[in-house]
Amino acid sequence: MRISILFFSGTGNTKSIAYGYSQLLKDKGHDVAVSSIETASTLDEHDLLIIGGPIYAGNMPHELIQWVRKNIPKTSSNKIALVYSTSAGLQNAHGVKSIGKKLSNKGYTIVDLLAYEMPRNFYIDKYDPTPEFLQKQQFKNAAQMIADSINNLQIDKPIEFMESVLLIDIMADLFSIMAKSLGKNFSIDESCISCGICEKNCPKNNITLKDKKYHNRCILCTRCIHNCPANAISYKKKKIEPYRVQYKIKL
Ligand SMILES: Cc1cc2nc3c(=O)[nH]c(=O)nc-3n(C[C@H](O)[C@H](O)[C@H](O)COP(=O)(O)O)c2cc1C
Repeated sequence: MRISILFFSGTGNTKSIAYGYSQLLKDKGHDVAVSSIETASTLDEHDLLIIGGPIYAGNMPHELIQWVRKNIPKTSSNKIALVYSTSAGLQNAHGVKSIGKKLSNKGYTIVDLLAYEMPRNFYIDKYDPTPEFLQKQQFKNAAQMIADSINNLQIDKPIEFMESVLLIDIMADLFSIMAKSLGKNFSIDESCISCGICEKNCPKNNITLKDKKYHNRCILCTRCIHNCPANAISYKKKKIEPYRVQYKIKL
């Protein structure tokens, strides 16, 4: 089978799951292509599409929703899709429905919607980081869930989308507007070593290191704050313990 895996990942959790799927499916002899929406503008030919994104305030990031709307053409052939999210808790992981419904409207048969519980990357104003023992367990659980979801693909029992996703999509639109202004709370202090990692890695080219400035395109992915080797980035002048993916999906 030809399989395309597409994802957006701010800090690596969603990417880890994407590469977990890729590894498992390649081991099973499938032809797999993995891409991030940051570098891809089209999808390779596929029979199965796997799409993943993190949950931001209950839905997928606005960028990922827009990518799906704009760049995935309608299909009349028998393409199937699996959608997954990663989030710190599972109560608000509605984003899979939003992407699932859009793909269904484009002619895909949706075979699974999965919510992976992964370490929290957003503990700036409230919440605590996920303790290490739990991070380890979450990566272990994720490996099992990846394998189960592929071994039990219910191609003959597609998911029906009765509910409207309008409200959660409005929330994603509003969140992306809020993120632009909340992003102005990030600042780079004098401990900056000018390595350029934040500027180079920002998915929205929102940082210029020369004048240590954040512009107004932030999506709050938190990649900058968690990947600064000097921990020189603060939010509302507050430093946080960085989150970095430190476990592997072992299949
Ligand atoms: C701006 C923002 C909002 C978030 N909102 C939620 C949320 O509503 N519910 C939740 O469980 N996790 C939330 N999270 C946590 C992330 O969904 C979670 O850590 C995810 O696995 C990060 O994926 P990534 O490493 O691929 O970026 C949020 C994270 C960010 C950055």
